[in-house]
Amino acid sequence: MKILFLSSEATGLIKTGGLADVARALPLALCQKGHDVRIVLPNYLSIARTQNYSPAIPSLGVSMGDSKLFCAVQQTRLEKLPVYLIEYHDFFLRNHPYEDVAGNPHPDNGERFGFFCKAALQLCLAENFIPDIVHVNDWQGALACLYLHQYRTTYSEFAGTRSLMTIHNGGYQGHCSASARSFLEIGDDWFRAAGFEDHGQINLLKGGLRAADQLNAVSVGYAEELRTPLGGHGLHEYYEARKEAFSGILNGCEYEVWNPSTDPFLTTSYDLGNLSGKIQCKSALQAEMGLKEVPEVPLIGIVSRLTRQKGFDFSLPAIAKVLSKKVQFAILGSGERWIVEKIARLSEMNPEKLQFHNGYNEALAHRIEAGSDFFLMPSLYEPCGLNQMYSLRYGTLPIVRAVGGLRDTVWERDVSGGDGTGFLFTEPNADDTLAAIERGIDCFTNDSASFQNRICLGMRQRFSWKNTATQYEKVYSKALKSPIN
Ligand code: ADP
Ligand code: GLC
Repeated sequence: MKILFLSSEATGLIKTGGLADVARALPLALCQKGHDVRIVLPNYLSIARTQNYSPAIPSLGVSMGDSKLFCAVQQTRLEKLPVYLIEYHDFFLRNHPYEDVAGNPHPDNGERFGFFCKAALQLCLAENFIPDIVHVNDWQGALACLYLHQYRTTYSEFAGTRSLMTIHNGGYQGHCSASARSFLEIGDDWFRAAGFEDHGQINLLKGGLRAADQLNAVSVGYAEELRTPLGGHGLHEYYEARKEAFSGILNGCEYEVWNPSTDPFLTTSYDLGNLSGKIQCKSALQAEMGLKEVPEVPLIGIVSRLTRQKGFDFSLPAIAKVLSKKVQFAILGSGERWIVEKIARLSEMNPEKLQFHNGYNEALAHRIEAGSDFFLMPSLYEPCGLNQMYSLRYGTLPIVRAVGGLRDTVWERDVSGGDGTGFLFTEPNADDTLAAIERGIDCFTNDSASFQNRICLGMRQRFSWKNTATQYEKVYSKALKSPIN
């Protein structure tokens, strides 16, 4: 199949979270299965600075409402995958893909990503690459599903093309002012409750839920939750309305990148047959973070975007309480100020037990995965979550809340009541978070047989991208067989 893969980030070019990892690994896995996959991304400031690309199309005209804008298209590669970069400086030459320095969404995000979507389709005509599937991700790609309806009638080449929208995070919906409607070409038919309209504003994700031919979320658990009032981020009825076309497909883990026996960021490599390197990684991490190098104290790692989604409201009080015990925390993250300040304060008050690196640091993320005994991910909601999969591969037991992809990938007990691969809790409150952390610590301190067994079970788990890609192939086929939505 010919697949056009639209993403607002991709590891190796620009990354703010897990979407970037998926936007690299999934196209690669599909490519390995013989599909012709091409990625399209905006040419952001940080990519433009590298200039690591060559011109593909010097000038591409893109109609948006009454205007016609001209952009350039650059071309680069992620391994063997062709990547098109939509270059339009007024929209994309900014420090952050979605937010200004104060953390507020760019006010013209609707126009920026609407233009990105239209340009992506238009470049297909210029490159004579007519995709079978236009695969878009999150609200940033939603308008491509709408524009595909237009292209199917305007250009006979597109008559057989179908769209899939993957929901990585239903909490971010891309709201923008209705004044952008004419630029974005959202006509009356589409600006209604079953469409882009949301309390008088444009809601891009919501519109995509109607416009896409097929939909999926990044785990089975999250796909189920999205259809409930509690888990649907206000849109559950629209997911429910498309339930025949809506599935859950668990992300994979890129084991070529996340592998403790080959990871170039680690001081010592290790694997199942030889776990001594993990002990050395722990003391190296303790030293790097400014914690005492004590192997007998359980070390809990966190690598996270610092947002409400990740459960900090209730996990920070639990962490504050558990600090009275023999425990250490190594925390890496960046994001909302109130969370940064609270973690920094905990660290100031307990410097020998909790160290915090406020920032984004890929190498340190790998070393925390390797050097910690536990990885804490107590999310309020979690569409899939990749860090818990990385933790399992690194022999670091995940302590997670049983939501979304976390409950699909980690379990505390097997069906016969034996050891599982981590520790889970259900209710989003400090007491339950604390109880799960304490069960972990108790296992570490008093039951080393069970602790080691859990490590081995986790390290043997495989969430392969190959399997995930096979499931996407099935959804693509379903889209191609079904009539236009
Ligand atoms: P989300 O996409 O919601 O942030 P995921 O678990 O799917 O959550 O993916 C997060 C990805 O971002 C992982 O690859 C993780 O290692 C990385 N990451 C998050 N915060 C940081 C950080 N501060 N420094 C380095 N990597 C980070
Ligand atoms: C989102 C979700 C995360 C998921 C990632 C990749 O950022 O928050 O749970 O793993 O996308 O699909």
